[in-house]
Amino acid sequence: MVKRLDKFLCDKKIGTRSRVKELIQMGFVTVNQEIVKRPETKVTDTDIVCCQGMVLLNDEFAYFMLNKPAGVISATEDAMQDTVLDFFKEEPYKNLYPVGRLDKDTEGLLLITNDGDLGHRLLSPKKHVPKTYYVGLAHGLSQSDIDALERGIDIGEKKLTLPAKVEIVEENAVYITITEGKFHQVKRMFEAVNNQVVYLKRVSMGSLHLDKSLRPGEYRSLTQEEKEELYVTGYKNRNF
Ligand code: URA
Repeated sequence: MVKRLDKFLCDKKIGTRSRVKELIQMGFVTVNQEIVKRPETKVTDTDIVCCQGMVLLNDEFAYFMLNKPAGVISATEDAMQDTVLDFFKEEPYKNLYPVGRLDKDTEGLLLITNDGDLGHRLLSPKKHVPKTYYVGLAHGLSQSDIDALERGIDIGEKKLTLPAKVEIVEENAVYITITEGKFHQVKRMFEAVNNQVVYLKRVSMGSLHLDKSLRPGEYRSLTQEEKEELYVTGYKNRNF
């Protein structure tokens, strides 16, 4: 989509053509964080337009949070196995896909969208978007295990894992927050301290927290606030 800024704001129901021109000329509209005073400025899908501090998102995109149940795979299609997209068969949107992968036996928060650019940005290793998991363990952790997990640990990659945060919930359950997304990373981190993950559930990704009212297999649209916060995460450090 390429549109004139004043048309974009009218389409967003901000006001009539003359009212939105007025707002633009008064300096109430920013594009990519810069005040723009020309109504004819062209904006595209990836430009972030704010009017009076409110982010205006492109409605052609859909954003859902799914509470992924165990037993389905994080893929768009599979001939043999159920995928997370099977839950979205009734949705009218094309090109929905899961942002990132959870193992087949992992539950919890999965962002499903057709906004490829935002999804790509959230997954970029450079972004270090924090992801928090609730982890059920075979045994309790010692203080030296916690220190090793938090400092960075050898899971057979070229480098140690980046620093993590561990929060004890009870004897055999913790929250761990990591800022990378290596294959089976959480399981491999606990294996590296001679433990074993027996249950894994993602509870947050960046600003997005799994809605506790969603049962496994249920999903809902993100709220405007959740979408805006994700945009801030995805587009921060962007070179405008
Ligand atoms: N780490 C894992 O080991 N599995 C997941 O599904 C997610 C993170």
